[in-house]
This record gives sequence, C-alpha cells and structure tokens, in this order.
Amino acid sequence: MSEVSSSTGAGDRQSTIEPVGRRKVFIKTYGCQMNVYDSERMGDALAGDGYVVTTSVEEADLILLNTCHIREKAAEKVYSDIGRYRKFKENKAVMGQNLVIGVTGCVAQAEGKEILHRARAVDLVVGPQTYHRLPQIVARALDGERVVDTEYATEDKFEYLPKPDASQTRNRGVTAFLTIQEGCDKFCTFCVVPYTRGSEQSRSVEQIVKEAERLTDSGVREITLLGQNVNAWHGEGPDGSEWGLGELLFELARLNGLDRLRYTTSHPIDMPDDSRDSLIAAHRDLEILMPYLHLPVQSGSDRILKAMNRHHTADDYLRAIDRFRSVRSDIAISGDFIVGFPGESDADFAETLNLVRRVEYASAFSFRYSPRPGTPGAVMKNTVSLQTASDRLQELQALLNFQQHDFNKKCVGKTMDVLLEKSGKKTGQLIARSPWLQSVILNDSVDNIGDIITVEITDGGPNSLVGI
Ligand code: SAH
Ligand code: SF4
Ligand code: F3S
Repeated sequence: MSEVSSSTGAGDRQSTIEPVGRRKVFIKTYGCQMNVYDSERMGDALAGDGYVVTTSVEEADLILLNTCHIREKAAEKVYSDIGRYRKFKENKAVMGQNLVIGVTGCVAQAEGKEILHRARAVDLVVGPQTYHRLPQIVARALDGERVVDTEYATEDKFEYLPKPDASQTRNRGVTAFLTIQEGCDKFCTFCVVPYTRGSEQSRSVEQIVKEAERLTDSGVREITLLGQNVNAWHGEGPDGSEWGLGELLFELARLNGLDRLRYTTSHPIDMPDDSRDSLIAAHRDLEILMPYLHLPVQSGSDRILKAMNRHHTADDYLRAIDRFRSVRSDIAISGDFIVGFPGESDADFAETLNLVRRVEYASAFSFRYSPRPGTPGAVMKNTVSLQTASDRLQELQALLNFQQHDFNKKCVGKTMDVLLEKSGKKTGQLIARSPWLQSVILNDSVDNIGDIITVEITDGGPNSLVGI
C-alpha cells in the first residue's frame, strides 16, 4: 500500500454550507490510502453524533490525528503536530472552551496509553479496529476522562459504522477508496502492519457491493479497492462460497454508473490461478478494470528477500509481472522498495537495480529502511550505515524517476480516455486521471467533473501529462 500526501483526509471535500452551532471535527490523515478511507468513515461515525467535518483546524472542537507507524519519521511527525495543536487547546481553554485531541490509526494501536504519558494534550487514543465506538469515546473525553481503546474488537466495525446516504457523500468527489480487506498475516520482518492492523480479514461480497452502490449513487465514477494484500482477498460470496478478487471484480463491473475499477496493494505470493474469473482473466476481459498493477517487491536480491520473510524470489516476481503483461501488454507496473535492510551488500543492491531495469516501472515508492520496534528486523545484525543507505536510495530513485519520466514521455502523441477529477491550481485548469494513474492537466471547463473524455497528450513531464 503506498503512502498518500493528503493531510486533511475526510475534510478535503466537505460542503461549505454548515449548520450554525454544530460541533466541528478536523481530521488529519497520515500514511496510506487505508487511513484516507478510515478518516472518511470516522467523519461519518461522528456525523451521526452531530459533528460536521471542517478543513479549518482553528474552528475545530475535536481534532483527530489518524496516524501511520510504518517508518520512524511518520510516527514522530505526529508528536510535533500534537505540540502545535496543544497551543490551540490552551487558547480555547483561556476562552472557557474545550478542544478534544485524539490520536487514531496505527501509532495509536502501536503505542496505546504511552501516548497519554508522552503528550499531555491528548485526550483519547483509538486503534483502527474500533472507530465505530468513536461517538461514545468522544463523549467520555468531554466528561474529562482520558480514554484508550486499542482492542481488537470482536464485532465487525464495518457492520457498525454508519452508512452515509448519497446526500451526505455527494460532495466527496468522483473517485473513492473502498476497503475490502483489513490487516495482514504475512509478517515481513521490517513491517509493523500485522501488529497495528491485526490479522487479515476479508469483507463479504454483499457488504462490498452495497457500499460500492452507495458510492456510485453519490456520484463516484472510479472505485479503488483497498487491502494490504488485496489480491489475497477471499470473501464470502452471495451463495456462501468463497470468492477471490477476480470474481469480485467481475461482479462489481456490472454496477450501474461505475466507469472504472482499481485495486491496491498486491503481494507477489498471492498470484491468481488461470481460472475463468481470476484476476488475470479480469485484466484480460474487463474494460472497466484499469491497466495498472501496484506490486511491491522491496528488493531484487533473493538473500535479502529471504531475510525480509517475503516468501518469493526476484524471479517469482518477474514471472508474476509477465503473466499480467501477457494478457494486458500495456499494464503499468508500480512497486515499493526498501534499501539498506540489514545485511544488504553492494551486490544485493546491484540486483535491485537490475530488477528495476528489467521491469521498467511506470511509478514507484522507495524508502530507506527504518527499524521498527517489535519487528524482527529491528534486532538484526549487519546493519547498513545511514550514509550507504542514503547513497543507495539516491541511486535507486534516480533510476525510478528516469523510468517514470520515460513512461510519461512515451504517452505524448497518444489519445486516451481520462476521468475529469477536479479543478487544478490555476483557473481554467482541470486535473484528470489517465487509465495508468497519471495526472493529466487540461484546459477545460469545471462543470463536467466526473465525465470521461478522450484527449490527446501533448507533453509528458516527470510527474504528470498535459492533454488537449
Ligand atoms: N502491504 C503492502 C505494504 C504496506 S507498507 C505490501 O506488502 O506491499 C508500504 C511500504 O512501506 C512497503 O511496501 C515498504 O516498501 C515500506 N515499508 C514498510 N516498512 C518499512 C520500514 N520499516 N522501513 C522502510 N520502509 C518500510
Ligand atoms: Fe507489511 Fe509485508 Fe504485510 Fe505488506 S505483506 S503489510 S509489507 S507485513
Ligand atoms: Fe497504513 Fe501506515 Fe498503518 S501505511 S496501515 S497507516 S502503519
């Protein structure tokens, strides 16, 4: 699952018409798309309790920091932000008003009540499994209690979270995330997710289809299905049998009003079989399924992959990509990489560069290894120096950036269908999305957001395309 840069999460597309006197919640989202989805659902849960989501932290009565624990930097950022928000709380207190500050998400799950000791301004700490309890937890915080709820709830939060109707969600935009799977059982030795998100759980087809219908009713044209290993999703089908992701995609493709489907993140060991309705068949047969595959590999060295507990080799990974390319030759491949994992030699790193050259990525995320407390990687010997890891990261990123720019440049002169998503920074500018997830900048009117139009690409920059 790749990280997103969004920092306002659920507040992003809030309607500006707000009833006077309602309490306001500001939600800041860190980390991956799963947190973006959760932030919206937290907003929904609190809406039932009279809150409206605001994008202005100054007017908030409740601040929720929906946090990420994946790397040290991400986790530490939360504490510096709390320091800033503490001042707002103090100013409000002077005026006799209350500002409740809550930490949710993966730092909440990992650090629990430690957060209350470290940050006096925090009133509540809630893990990702219990967002449906937020209204009660906030009420307790308003009564002066400092609440920690990091249980792995036995009840299914999705069943209890309110299901907003179209009138509440109409302004949220034409693309949406839909979490279909939570947690992870893979225990890669560098990763905190199995500890912060719990064990892998797949939602049922019925739950997913209903939620997708609500999204399309409120104007959503493109849905991205989310899971930490989304290609391992195996939910209960309408007939009680177990379905795989391919079957789910075929089912969702029939929804009225839905134009595009995506899914992320996939794992190389959960490769589909060759059955009629497998994921490979879905890419071959479904026009609605966008030609894009986010398939992290982390390293090109089998020795390092073994130390990472990835259960696949570099060759397994390359063969998986070949299978997708054999049915959809234009599929864009994206990935995640970690450099400087303990024991990584120059030769191991050279294998990563070789793999990147073989694959030719359309986009990728790459990180310097960050040892995380409680993971096996954190106590491994043969650590790589910061300088070496930084040098390797720079070299890898230069290659990945070159490939991404190259991929974009190859689009120049092509015509393609793009989804009109939102207005751009400059007046008269629109941001659209290509089938390969590139941003396409257009000069167009803003009244046709949500349409899919055919454009010609006139320029391909490092991070976006220009079309007419
Ligand atoms: N489920 C996804 C990963 C989610 S985390 C998957 O298996 O691909 C997103 C990315 O963060 C990972 O792919 C990895 O590249 C990176 N990451 C995770 N833990 C990390 C760590 N300790 N240090 C540096 N990067 C890390
Ligand atoms: Fe983390 Fe590995 Fe699970 Fe991905 S598959 S979430 S990297 S443990
Ligand atoms: Fe996502 Fe970060 Fe948690 S990547 S699952 S928010 S640790």
